[in-house]
Amino acid sequence: MPWSPEQPFNDLPALPPPGLDLEPKSVLKATIQARAALASLAQAGQLLPNPHVLIHSIPLLEAQASSEIENIVTTADELFKHVDSGGGDHATKEALRYRAALFAGVEAIRARPLSTRTATTICSRLQDREMEVRRVPGTRIANPATREIIYAPPEGAETIRTKLADWERFVHGADDLDPLVRMAVAHYQFEAIHPFHDGNGRTGRVINILMLIEAGLLTEPILYLSRSIIAQKSDYYRLLRAVTAEGAWIEWIHFMLEAVRDSATSTTRKIASIRTCQEGIAERARAATVGGRDARFVSVLFEQPYCRIGTVVEHCEVSRQTASSWLQALVDAGLLFDARIGRERLFVNHELLEVLTRPE
Ligand SMILES: Nc1ncnc2c1ncn2[C@@H]1O[C@H](COP(=O)(O)OP(=O)(O)OP(=O)(O)O)[C@@H](O)[C@H]1O
Ligand SMILES: [Mg+2]
Repeated sequence: MPWSPEQPFNDLPALPPPGLDLEPKSVLKATIQARAALASLAQAGQLLPNPHVLIHSIPLLEAQASSEIENIVTTADELFKHVDSGGGDHATKEALRYRAALFAGVEAIRARPLSTRTATTICSRLQDREMEVRRVPGTRIANPATREIIYAPPEGAETIRTKLADWERFVHGADDLDPLVRMAVAHYQFEAIHPFHDGNGRTGRVINILMLIEAGLLTEPILYLSRSIIAQKSDYYRLLRAVTAEGAWIEWIHFMLEAVRDSATSTTRKIASIRTCQEGIAERARAATVGGRDARFVSVLFEQPYCRIGTVVEHCEVSRQTASSWLQALVDAGLLFDARIGRERLFVNHELLEVLTRPE
C-alpha cells in the first residue's frame, strides 16, 4: 500500500534502508568536515581552564533551543537564574527538565548501552511522569500552523516495540557506517516510530548527543546541536517527511551532517570567547580582592553566570562573611551585578552571560 499521511505507518521499514548506499561520495565528504569540526570542539573543551562552565552551560543552551521547537520559549537568562532554585515559569521549568533529561541520559549510557529503556528514561524525565510506549491509537503529527496532518506514526504497542528493537540493533550495528551517518539515520527512524505520546522530538534530540558520546566523538554533552536544527525547523520537518514520502535519505543525512558541523564550529567559537572572558575577569578580580587570588573562587564565577554566596562558601571553604565580602568587592569593581530572586541574593557575571547568550 502506498504511504499516506493519515494512515498509521505500520509498514515503516526496518533499518538500514534496503538497496541504498547511505554513504555516497558527497556524504563521505560532508562527514569528514563534520568530524573535523567535532574534533576541534573536543580539543577546545579540554583546553578550557574550567570545563565545568561548559558542562553546566552548554547543555542549558541546548535545552533552551531544543524546547523551543515545541514552542516552549524561555530565555537563557531566566534559565541560568533559576538553575539552582528549580523555580521560574512553566517554560523555564520545562527547559530545565530537558537538561536534567540530557544528564540522566548521559548517566544511563555510562552504565549500559543506549536502548529503548534509555529513551523511556529520557522521555519520563522530560515529561515529569512515567512514560511508556504508546498503547492508544490516534497520535498524529500536524503542521502547527495549518493543523494539516503530515504524518501518522505506527500504532499498536507490540508493533512499536518491535520497531524499537530494530532501531536498537541498528544503533549498535556492526557494519562500518560512520557514527554521524548512523546518528542521522537513527534519528529519522526514532521520530518515524514516534514511540511516545509526546516528547519524541526532544527525546530523539537528546539521543543524538548520546550517540556521539557512545561513539567516542564527544566526552561530555557539550554540543549545541538543537540550535542548528531549530534555526531550520521547516527544513527539519520537510526533510523528515521526505524520507518517508520519497526515500530522500541522502538529503536528510546532509541536513544532519551540516547541523553537526555548524553547531560544532559555533560551540568551539563560544569556548574561545569564554576563555578570553575568563582570562580578563581573572586578572581584574586579582586586582579587586584577595579572593581573586583563590583559583577556586574565580572558577566558581565561571561555573554558572549566576553565583550565590553559599556556592562560594562551599567551593572555597570560607565563611559566609568572607564569601560575601569577596563578591561585594567584585560588584564594586563592576565585574559582577547584584540581582535577586525572591529573598536570595545572586551575583551575575554579566560578561560571561553575554558571551554565553550571544549568537556565535
Ligand atoms: N514527518 C515527520 N515524520 C517523522 N517525525 C516527524 C515528522 N515531522 C516532525 N517529526 C518529529 O516529531 C517531533 C514532534 O513530536 P513530539 O511532539 O512528540 O515531540 P516534542 O519533543 O514534544 O516536540 P518538539 O520536537 O516539537 O519539541 C519533531 O520535533 C520531529 O522530530
Ligand atoms: Mg510535543
